[in-house]
Amino acid sequence: MADSIRDQFPLLGTCVYLNNNSTGAVPKGVESVLSDYWETLRTWRDGVWEGWHDGLDEYLGALAAFIGAPPGSVAVDANLSTLLARIASCFDYRAPRNRVVTTDLEFPTVPFIWKAFRRYGAEVDVVGTGGPHLDEDELLRRVDERTLIVSVPHASFSSGATVDLERLVEHAHSVGALVVVDAFQTVGVMPLDVTALGVDFVLGGAHKWMCGVGTAFLYVRPGLLPGLEPAATGWQAGDRALTFQPSAGYAADARRFTGGTPFPLTALISRVGLELLSGVGIEAIRAHSLVCTERIIAHATEAGIPVVSPVEPHRRGGVVCLDVPDGEAVKYRLAARDMICSWRTYLRIGPHVYNTLDEIDEFMAALVAVTR
Ligand SMILES: Cc1ncc(COP(=O)(O)O)c(C=O)c1O
Repeated sequence: MADSIRDQFPLLGTCVYLNNNSTGAVPKGVESVLSDYWETLRTWRDGVWEGWHDGLDEYLGALAAFIGAPPGSVAVDANLSTLLARIASCFDYRAPRNRVVTTDLEFPTVPFIWKAFRRYGAEVDVVGTGGPHLDEDELLRRVDERTLIVSVPHASFSSGATVDLERLVEHAHSVGALVVVDAFQTVGVMPLDVTALGVDFVLGGAHKWMCGVGTAFLYVRPGLLPGLEPAATGWQAGDRALTFQPSAGYAADARRFTGGTPFPLTALISRVGLELLSGVGIEAIRAHSLVCTERIIAHATEAGIPVVSPVEPHRRGGVVCLDVPDGEAVKYRLAARDMICSWRTYLRIGPHVYNTLDEIDEFMAALVAVTR
């Protein structure tokens, strides 16, 4: 599996790279995107924008296909925070349905944004876990007729534990609540079919498991679009955006979730990685990921290193988190040996489709050596 696309990723020739949950490797096809971009700037004419808008549209189409979304239901912007705040700005938070239920396993931007909307009446209910895994029964108990939105990660950035989205969406919809999913830690390494799931909003980004850079995306369930009018907005969200006339309303499609002038380079770059991943297929990527993470768990267990992530395959995301004493220093000692991973409370080891089992064996031997 890994061998067929390894040579597309020059970074892999410089180190054992198991840091994909933080920043993914970028394929060499990006080099020509960058030189084309410079050529465009060097020979600038105004018509360039048409080509850039076409490039953005192609990226949106490829993204939509990758997550099972219909055309017109995906928008992009610079980062996930911008898009989540834009979702939040669509609602008025009047009781009795003014609760936002979230968890303490979120990436910090998620509670930070929802708590900022308390000034408009949002009542934020954070389901505590007291540990690395989510108590899904407790989460479901907290979602009731007072809940406007449930905001969860598909997989936790700090433990890799996944949430059973099917069960959550079914329960949330049965009480009239909407579901927002932060899938930054899963899109590109775990299958996600937004249409089959019936989920309302899905957010993700390019620079981790999608082998891109500097751009995030938002899927909105098409049936919701006509009723959503973000207050955090910009001229590109208007129904007459590219006529440069005042817009009377919002664009009919997910473009209503855009803002100001886009920066197309990150989408043009990110499309290269997305095409490679689409060519391999998400089911094959997931199968390889599970084999790799199983191997990490086996080595850790043998060495007596506590595994924080779920060990059951269906509950694991793409990363294995290990509870290693003095973990941050260990990360640096590994980096000195060109073994790259990340640390956030736990040591996070995130192999991707281009990693081999030999690399994992080498990495885990180095980990045991530097922790001895
Ligand atoms: C789960 C998750 N959500 C969001 C982010 C980042 O959000 P933003 O694009 O706003 O920086 C990250 C990591 O950077 C993440 O792991």
